[in-house]
Amino acid sequence: GDRTPLIAGNWKMHLDHLQAIAFVQKLSWGLKDVRHDFGEVEVAVFPPFTDLRSVQTLLAADKLSLTLGAQDVSPHESGAFTGDVSAAMLGKLDVRYVLVGHSERRQGHQEGDDTVAAKTLAAHTAGMVPVICVGETAEDLETHGAAAIPLAQLAAAIAPLPADAEFVVAYEPVWAIGSGQAATPEQAEDVARALRESLRDLRGDDVATATRILYGGSVASQNVAGFLRQPNVDGALVGGASLKVDEFTRIVQFKK
Ligand code: G3H
Repeated sequence: GDRTPLIAGNWKMHLDHLQAIAFVQKLSWGLKDVRHDFGEVEVAVFPPFTDLRSVQTLLAADKLSLTLGAQDVSPHESGAFTGDVSAAMLGKLDVRYVLVGHSERRQGHQEGDDTVAAKTLAAHTAGMVPVICVGETAEDLETHGAAAIPLAQLAAAIAPLPADAEFVVAYEPVWAIGSGQAATPEQAEDVARALRESLRDLRGDDVATATRILYGGSVASQNVAGFLRQPNVDGALVGGASLKVDEFTRIVQFKK
């Protein structure tokens, strides 16, 4: 298809805003000369909330070709929600993507499908593109196989979205996150294909064809090309390896 590959770096709870500035400067320098013979690649970084303003300022001043993402968003528009950050606040910082449903939120903060759906809608309503994370645990894999849980999570998350809403899907098997045990390219492709088929049923051909589906879970420069070669995998959501400038640059330079 003609989906632009997306390489997304989720920093999780790493790098304060001064470290973030230094990191993004080095990264954008390293990415300057990266050209793929098969077309463009979009690169996005997802820093902690406290870094967003600094990174936004840097990107705006230097016209760097990096896209900004946030790691979370409140499902509420505004009000008495101590500690929460609204979608409108993120939009004002030129945030384009928002992670929703990451397994570290589902597990560590007890976010269920309803909360994920509300966050997905909040991000969309404020003009951003939700990156909907789905994935099965090792236990789910045993009992339900690989695709059942991701398919159910995706259907629940997009349920409140209007028919023409843009979103990205990130398939992240929970057992592959931070474990060094990435899925095989074939495993990733099988679930990505099932997710796209289900999008076709739920949203029609155009949405299924246009939607980017990323793989995440122990992606590194050594394995990224195998995933990106799969017809239904359109990018990577990178955690640990996105915190090392050289390694992340090599990931972005993947050769199909
Ligand atoms: O959001 C990123 C994923 O949780 C993957 O993390 O690359 O450290 O396994 P990881």
